[in-house]
Amino acid sequence: MGFPTHRLRRLRQTPLLRRLVRETVLTPDHWVFPLFVRTGRNVREAIRSMPGQFRWTVDRLGEPVDQALEVGVRAFILFGLPEAKDEVGSGAYAEDGIVQTAIRELRRRYGAEVLVIADVCLCEYTSHGHCGVIRDGRVDNDATLDFLAQTAVSLAAAGADVVAPSAMMDGQVQAIRRALDEGGFAETPVLAYAAKFASCFYGPFREAADSAPAFGDRRAYQMPFSRRAALHEVALDVEEGADVVMVKPALAYLDVIAAVRERWPLPVAAYNVSGEYAMVKAAAAQGWIDEARAVWEVLTAIHRAGADVVLTYHAVDAARWLRDGTWDALG
Ligand code: PBG
Repeated sequence: MGFPTHRLRRLRQTPLLRRLVRETVLTPDHWVFPLFVRTGRNVREAIRSMPGQFRWTVDRLGEPVDQALEVGVRAFILFGLPEAKDEVGSGAYAEDGIVQTAIRELRRRYGAEVLVIADVCLCEYTSHGHCGVIRDGRVDNDATLDFLAQTAVSLAAAGADVVAPSAMMDGQVQAIRRALDEGGFAETPVLAYAAKFASCFYGPFREAADSAPAFGDRRAYQMPFSRRAALHEVALDVEEGADVVMVKPALAYLDVIAAVRERWPLPVAAYNVSGEYAMVKAAAAQGWIDEARAVWEVLTAIHRAGADVVLTYHAVDAARWLRDGTWDALG
């Protein structure tokens, strides 16, 4: 009993019908906007590889935050560019570190109006650019755990709502969970970058955060392009106490997002990373794709695959297109 009884075009006739049955409904409630914070005063520095994104000094952080709040984006993840770097990434866990300072300022200014997520990693703070400490020419997993735990506690103490370990060290979620619990932060959730692939799509971010490794690459700790390895990573992070598990990048790994969604009841996050953003911006700048349409499809795809939470540099533009009816006209 197929055609002509079944005509799928019946529900596609008008915008309101299409909207009524739309499977994936987008809302800025589920988006997180990344912010880069640097030292200094009164600076808004454009990031060349990520058109439309900036490095902000703490005194001007209110500008992007106000713009985001205005269109309904209220969650932020912070990345820091410290004044100085060293072998052990001291800036990551310094009480007056750049991100700690930024978080305190956001808390003072916005209170509970904003949700602040803090990335927990050493790569922006180490002189060698790796995500952990180096021993005998390689990143030492177990020696790094203490530094990550200290970083998480100092970020929570500064007022972060959520900490998000991204270093891909084995046991990092457990080490952080324990340290938070012992430090009086038992209620601080851990959003684990659980399945983080060794991807070329982080390229623009490494320019933005000045965090490219000075030697070698990250393949000895970030993941091969394997779905099974991703599920194994997620299983372990869940066991270690993760509250949210993240897949990163998003677009080349939609199958992984879907598989994680199916297997675990935890909320799933996905990171629509810098390279994915840069590709859309570059093609749009050439007039080769329509940016608003592309972003609509991209965010729909990531949510449809199963992500509850999407970290995306498009968040503020997307929320504006939602609000001003740009996307309605596309539906
Ligand atoms: C820190 C970190 C990275 C990203 C998020 N946290 C860089 C990396 O692992 O090299 C990438 C985010 C993006 O590309 O947008 N380890």
